[in-house]
Amino acid sequence: GTQAGTAAPQGVPAASIPAVSKEVTVLFGSQTGNSHKLAKKLAGKLQDQGLQVTTLSMIDFKPNTLKKVENLLILVSTHGEGDPPDNAISFYEYLHSKRAPQLSGMSFSVLALGDTSYEFFCKTGKDFDQRLEELGAKRIAPRVDCDVDFDDASEQWFSSVLASLGQAAATAPSATAVLDSPGAGIGQPTEYSRANPFQAAVLENLNLNGRGSDRETRHLEISLEDSGIQYEPGDSIGIYPQNHPRLVDELIEAMGWQQDEPVSLPKSTEPCTLKEALTSHYEITVLSAALIEKIAAIAPNSGLQHLLSAGNEQELRAYCKGRDLLDLAQDYDLNGIDAGAFTAQLRKLPPRLYSISSSAKAYPEEVHLTVRKVHYENAGRVRYGVCSTFVSERLEPGQNLPIFVQDNPNFKLTSNPDTPIIMIGPGTGVAPFRAFLGEREELGAEGKTWLFYGDQHFATDFLYQVEWQRWLKEGVLTRMDVAFSRDTDQKVYVQHRMLENSKELYQWLEEGAVVYICGDEKKMAHDVHAALLTILKQEGGLSEEDAAAYLSKMQQEKRYQRDVY
Ligand code: 2AM
Repeated sequence: GTQAGTAAPQGVPAASIPAVSKEVTVLFGSQTGNSHKLAKKLAGKLQDQGLQVTTLSMIDFKPNTLKKVENLLILVSTHGEGDPPDNAISFYEYLHSKRAPQLSGMSFSVLALGDTSYEFFCKTGKDFDQRLEELGAKRIAPRVDCDVDFDDASEQWFSSVLASLGQAAATAPSATAVLDSPGAGIGQPTEYSRANPFQAAVLENLNLNGRGSDRETRHLEISLEDSGIQYEPGDSIGIYPQNHPRLVDELIEAMGWQQDEPVSLPKSTEPCTLKEALTSHYEITVLSAALIEKIAAIAPNSGLQHLLSAGNEQELRAYCKGRDLLDLAQDYDLNGIDAGAFTAQLRKLPPRLYSISSSAKAYPEEVHLTVRKVHYENAGRVRYGVCSTFVSERLEPGQNLPIFVQDNPNFKLTSNPDTPIIMIGPGTGVAPFRAFLGEREELGAEGKTWLFYGDQHFATDFLYQVEWQRWLKEGVLTRMDVAFSRDTDQKVYVQHRMLENSKELYQWLEEGAVVYICGDEKKMAHDVHAALLTILKQEGGLSEEDAAAYLSKMQQEKRYQRDVY
C-alpha cells in the first residue's frame, strides 16, 4: 500500500532549512458551540507560539487533503447516545470508512467534550482518537475527556498540546503570555462570558399557555442594558439557575447536616454556607456512575459498594436514571459524611442553554427566551427541571439573572435576505423562528418564509399566535402550517403537515430554501428527517440513497441546520 509521502524532509540538517513554522490543522465538531469556541481559543494560543494554524469545522474540511495534514488537533463533543455533532458526521464517517488513508506522517491529539452522566461519555472523541492511531498517526499529547464543566480540563490539554508542538516553534515570541492577559484593563469594557456571566435584570416573565393547559411556557424578557452583549438570531443564552429550595432543604436534612455550615467552593477563598453552595454552586439532581464511585470512596459503609460491584452495571445505570442526591441519601447510609468532603465530589452546577426568541434589531438592549417548565414523576416523587422550574416559580421581574451568550455557528439565519427559509419548530422549538422573522422584518427581507408549528392544543398552546398572524398579514411570514396533536382523534404532527404539502415543499427545496429544525431531538427531529427523505423520493423521484445524499449535500451547504435537544 501507499505510505504517507508528506513527512518532513528527514535527512536534511535542521540548520540548513530556513525556520519555517509548523503548520497545524485544528478541526472541531460542535453542536452547541463549546468545541468551536475552544478551537478558536486554542488557535489563538498556537498562533502566539508562531505556528501556522488552520481552524475549520469538520464539515468544511476536505477529506482529500487529510494526507497532507502534518499536525491535526481535534476538538469534538458527543451527544445523546454517543452521537457525533451534526457538523462532525461526514468527517467521522469518512475517517471510519475504508476510504480513509494511512496517516503515518501525521501527529495528532484529541480533546473530547461530554457529560459523565451519559453512558457513552465522550464516545465521539474516543473514537477519533482510536481511529487516528489505527491509521498510523502519532499521538503527541494524550486525549483529554472533559465533563460538562470543561474549563480546567481543556486548559490542561491546551498546555500539553502547546508543549509538544511549541518545541519546534523555537522563534515563538515569549512575551505573549503577558500581553494575553490584560487583566482589569483601565477603560476596557467587561467581556461577559460563560466564566463571567452578566447579572441581567428580568423585565418580564409571562406564562404563554392558556388556563387548563398541561404546559407552562414562560416568555422571559431580559435587559442587556450597559452590558455590551450582542447576539444574532440562532444564538442561545446560558442561564445559571438555582436548585429547588425544597430539594436543598431535604437533602441537608437527610444527610444530617446544618444549613449554615461553612463549606469552601472550588477556586474560591470566600466562605459559603452549605445551603448557598447546594442552591447555587453544585449539581444535586444528576446521578452518574462516576459520582457514585467518588461518594462510595468517602463512605465505605454506605452500601454503595454493592451497586458498584462488577456485573451490576445495568442496575447501577437504572438506579441513576431520573434519581438525584436526595434519593441517594435516603436509599444508602451516608449519614455522618462531612458536608465539605461530600460537596468536594460534586460537579459545578452547569448553565442551561435556551435558544433566543428575539431579534436584537427588533428589541435593542433586550433578549427574550421561551422556557417550558419541566416536571415529571419518577420513583415516587415529582422531579423538577432545575432551570425551567427556577424560571417558572422563583424568578420575578426586577430580579437579576446570571447569563451569557453562546453563539451558535451551526444555526444561523442565512445572510441572503432573498433566500427562502423553511422553519420547523413545534413546542418551544419555535423560539428561534420568532427571532428569525423579527430579524427579517427589521431588514425588510423579501425571501419567502414558511413555518411549521405544533403543540398539544390550539386553544391553550399556540405560542406567540398573535405575532405569527401579524407577520402573515404583513407578508413577513409567507406560509404557516400548524399541527395540534391533541385536538383530534388521530394525532397530527408537523411532519404530517410537511407530507401533506410535499409538492410545494419540494419546490422550495429546489429553489434553494434553507431548512431549519428546532426542538426535540429524539422523536421530532428524527421523524422530520424521515419526512424530508420521503418528500425527496416522492416528489423528486430519488432513490433512498440519492435522497440521503441530497440531504447530506444540503447539510454540507448549510442549507439543513438543526438546533435540537
Ligand atoms: P404530543 O405531546 O401530543 O404527542 C410539541 O411538544 C408538540 O410536539 C406536541 O404537540 C407533541 O405532541 C409533538 N410531538 C411529540 N412527538 C412528536 C414526534 N415524534 N414528531 C413530531 N411532533 C411530536
